[in-house]
Amino acid sequence: MKVSCGPNSVPVLIWTLAASLVLCSGQAATENNKKCLLLFESLSERKVLSRLEPLTGINFTTVDKNYTYVFQLCGDADGVKGAGVIQKKTGVKDPTIVGRYNSTKAYGGSDWVMLIYENGEGYDSHCSNVGRRAIVMISCDRKADKAQLTMIEEDLVRKECYYLFELDSSKLCPVVLSHISTGTIIIIIGICLLAAYLIGGFLYQRLVVGAKGMEQFPNIAFWQEFGNLTADGCDFVCRSRPREEVPTYRGGATEPLDEEEQEERDDHLLPM
Ligand SMILES: *[C@@H]1O[C@H](CO)[C@@H](O)[C@H](O)[C@H]1NC(C)=O
Ligand SMILES: *[C@@H]1O[C@H](CO)[C@@H](O)[C@H](O)[C@H]1NC(C)=O
Ligand SMILES: *[C@@H]1O[C@H](CO)[C@@H](O)[C@H](O)[C@H]1NC(C)=O
Repeated sequence: MKVSCGPNSVPVLIWTLAASLVLCSGQAATENNKKCLLLFESLSERKVLSRLEPLTGINFTTVDKNYTYVFQLCGDADGVKGAGVIQKKTGVKDPTIVGRYNSTKAYGGSDWVMLIYENGEGYDSHCSNVGRRAIVMISCDRKADKAQLTMIEEDLVRKECYYLFELDSSKLCPVVLSHISTGTIIIIIGICLLAAYLIGGFLYQRLVVGAKGMEQFPNIAFWQEFGNLTADGCDFVCRSRPREEVPTYRGGATEPLDEEEQEERDDHLLPM
């Protein structure tokens, strides 16, 4: 049969779609992350930063105790020049710069990034008066469409003091397509092929061959024969003893009864 020309083009189409999906999602759009200066310029840290590109240009805000913190990725947090993270206290006009994006470090794994901004304003009395430092732990959370910043802790005890933040975002999650297993793809392709075969075959039989009724089903003779053979095979393999002929008691007895009933019903229809 000539039905095969339709279904053959379907897998090509599916693979083209899948490939273009992978390619599209892999591209980083713009390059706002270039504004971050790395303390130690390296290709691997640049790659980590480019993964954060979708989060650039947003003021992330969180409130903790009497302080408000604002974080921006490779941009002026709350409009404060050079600041990546700032701390504001209610009633105090000037914010404190916690970290600057001209002193960035970035480390990352498959679904998380640890971003460090150093060179913040120096402490007055603790931490050997060194510059403040902000650590932002950015993780994948598929439910977090709108990323939310959380303050975890401010460490003033250790020699290397830090402010630790957490940011969950769906933007950092690995591409969904890579999570579909090969088995699923094969099943999807199988269903598509079957659908294309049925629809294509049906149209061919109806429009080209001009078939009617059951004959419109593609390769009907083959499938009927196939079904019969399968049934025979099952019968042969699964049945434990030969089928007994069931004597037909009812056949002879019921027929006259039916006729009697018919006559009775007919009687009612006649005018009295
Ligand atoms: C917040 O500020 C108020 C008034 O200035 C003060 O009484 C309170 O202890 C502060 N809370 C914290 C957690 O620092
Ligand atoms: C961040 O906040 C500051 C101060 O409110 C504002 O000037 C700036 O436009 C904001 N930036 C973005 C990208 O929303
Ligand atoms: C970052 O900027 C600050 C303030 O403009 C400056 O003092 C500091 O030296 C700069 N650091 C680096 C590593 O460029």
